[in-house]
Amino acid sequence: TRTPVNVTVTGAAGQIGYALLFRIASGHLLGPDVPVNLRLLEIPQGLKAAEGTAMELDDCAFPLLRNIEITDNPDVGFAGANVALLVGARPRTKGMERGDLLSANGGIFKPQGKAINDNAADDIKVLVVGNPANTNALIAQAAAPDVPAERFTAMTRLDHNRAISQLAAKTGAAVSDIKRLTIWGNHSATQYPDIFHAEIAGKNAAEVVNDELWLADTFIPTVAKRGAAIIEARGASSAASAANAAIDHVHTWVNGTAEGDWTSMGIPSDGSYGVPEGIISSFPVTTKDGKYEIVQGLDINEFSRARIDASVQELTEERDAVRELGLI
Ligand code: NAI
Repeated sequence: TRTPVNVTVTGAAGQIGYALLFRIASGHLLGPDVPVNLRLLEIPQGLKAAEGTAMELDDCAFPLLRNIEITDNPDVGFAGANVALLVGARPRTKGMERGDLLSANGGIFKPQGKAINDNAADDIKVLVVGNPANTNALIAQAAAPDVPAERFTAMTRLDHNRAISQLAAKTGAAVSDIKRLTIWGNHSATQYPDIFHAEIAGKNAAEVVNDELWLADTFIPTVAKRGAAIIEARGASSAASAANAAIDHVHTWVNGTAEGDWTSMGIPSDGSYGVPEGIISSFPVTTKDGKYEIVQGLDINEFSRARIDASVQELTEERDAVRELGLI
């Protein structure tokens, strides 16, 4: 039998955690034949609720779930971790300035990055979900100099999935017919969902849509502001869909993209497409054998260029701000 994979989830007692843990334990994160050990990392106030969730996980008698550890100590939580899902974060509260938000999250992601550096397994893969995800991932990555930078990623898969769904609804296509969609930039309102290279049942998506006004005035803002629309409707932020996207992100990273398709991941830039090296930006990537590569050679038209640049500009400003705060 295979050795269990150690999966650490921070913010395990939160609403995404509640939607995520059961799917990890049932084999959807890594595969139906991969046993897992779960490490739930919370803050002291979250421990009791995490214990309650662990009781429910026990009650599912998942055949793949070997053991569960609950802790508020990052060194313990990341010990031997092969996969870390950093979900717990400090949300923006009313009246909070960007600098306050970044420093509050720096206080979480810097020590967690160091704990990953010092305790995780050599093959550690990190997905940051907690917002601001890209910059939190950068903070954690900078605090982990012994871990290859490319192991730190940020989640834009929810945006990717949202864009596919909107495009399917617009064109009447099946979700499974849509390929090669790209989210560029930051997981924020500036993100750019790009359909110019996407395909719908083998045809170019932008040509199938043939409606630049819809693209600019409906599609892009709908995808970018979907999080706010969910809060408005549900009275709480996206949780099940965010958890689903986290599952998709890691599953694709570990198990590979399908031939002829790609996905979107926030990853440290290597300078491709004029995105400054080092910032964690979303790109089109293919994955294979647990590694990802940026899709190269895409022609970027003027419409796309302006939007990619605007989102990257925001990421550069966030990077500069956390640098000034001494967080990276
Ligand atoms: P939540 O507030 O329900 O849960 C957060 C949990 O994190 C709480 O249980 C809290 O105790 C815990 N926590 C806080 N600081 C921690 C620390 N230092 N170590 C360990 N645990 C800690 O929030 P929810 O709804 O689960 O969302 C979590 C994060 O995910 C938020 O930052 C949210 O903005 C983000 N998010 C990101 C998305 C993306 O597409 N990248 C999509 C949706 C949400």
